[in-house]
Parts: sequence; structure tokens; C-alpha cells
Amino acid sequence: MAILTIPKENRTINDPAAIADYLAGIGVDYEIWEPTSAVAADAPAEEILAAYSAEIDELKESGGYVTADVIDVTPRTPGLAEMLAKFNREHRHDDDEVRFIVEGRGLFHLHPQNGPVVAIEVEAGDLIRVPSGFLHWFNLCADQRIRAIRLFKDPAGWAPHYTGSGVDGDFQPLCFGPSYVPVMSSLAQ
Ligand SMILES: [Fe+2]
Repeated sequence: MAILTIPKENRTINDPAAIADYLAGIGVDYEIWEPTSAVAADAPAEEILAAYSAEIDELKESGGYVTADVIDVTPRTPGLAEMLAKFNREHRHDDDEVRFIVEGRGLFHLHPQNGPVVAIEVEAGDLIRVPSGFLHWFNLCADQRIRAIRLFKDPAGWAPHYTGSGVDGDFQPLCFGPSYVPVMSSLAQ
């Protein structure tokens, strides 16, 4: 499940309920979803959407989302570097950013108006909803793999608006997941 860190406070939260509480306090939703029937992470998109249709329908109803799709990113995705470069700088969207992770992992940095920047590493089973206008940026982890359900009110509203603040440069895009390898040379000094 997810790992939340607050770098400026040198604090880490691993408990899902505590993560949901902390994020609720800054206006971001976090949930864990279970499929209604077993579904392989590499199943066709329609099967993935069907397995989570109850949760998707509920979120569409409560959040006003009209479309859902499945995005697949692998190290072999054409234009991957360009795609990632669009989202690894602080930005906001006119639409909510809603992601349910089916496979792989990724790292969101969230920048609340009042409070320190929060990093949340999400993986399979995690649902995160970053509201429209909320400043954030996103990195893949070292395995460059993520498969996720996305929900939109309007896909056109999901273009990034950059702040140009440079605050993203103050934070290391390091994941704690299986692919994370600490840089031992810096620890040894
Ligand atoms: Fe975004």
C-alpha cells in the first residue's frame, strides 16, 4: 500500500487509515479499492474497468466524472521521457486528477496552500484524488511502470498549468518500493 512522507518534518506514515486522515486534512482523497472479482493486473482494460465498476460508478456519481479509462506506462512506452517531463514540474489542472493504481507505482508530491509538501508513493490498490487547482507533480519510480484507471469530468481539463515555482527541485523523486536502491556512497561518508 501507499507510503506517505513529509520531507520537511522527516516524517513517514505507513498506515492506510492514517494516510487517508492526513490527506483528508489537506483536501486530497485516498482510498483502497478491492476488485469485485479477481482480475489480473495485465487483463484487458475492459476487464479492469468491469472489476472496479462499483467503485468507479460511485465515484462518478459523487464526483461528477463522466469518463474512465486505463492508462499503461512501461519503460517501452514511446515518448516516455517527454511524457514524464510534462508532469514532473509543479502544476495544477482544471479537472481533478483521479488515479487508481492497478499495477506498478508512482510518486505524487502534493503542495498544499497551508502546510508542507507531502510525498505519497502509490501502488496497486491505491486510489488518489487530487482536486482541481491543487498544486502537485508526479514521477514514476525506477521501474517506470504504472497501470492506472483514470476518471475525468472533461479530458480537456487535464492539461497541466505550470507554476514555474521551481519548488519541485527541492525534493528528490525517490520511491521506497522494491525498485528503490539507496545511494550507499552518500550514507557511508
Ligand atoms: Fe497532474
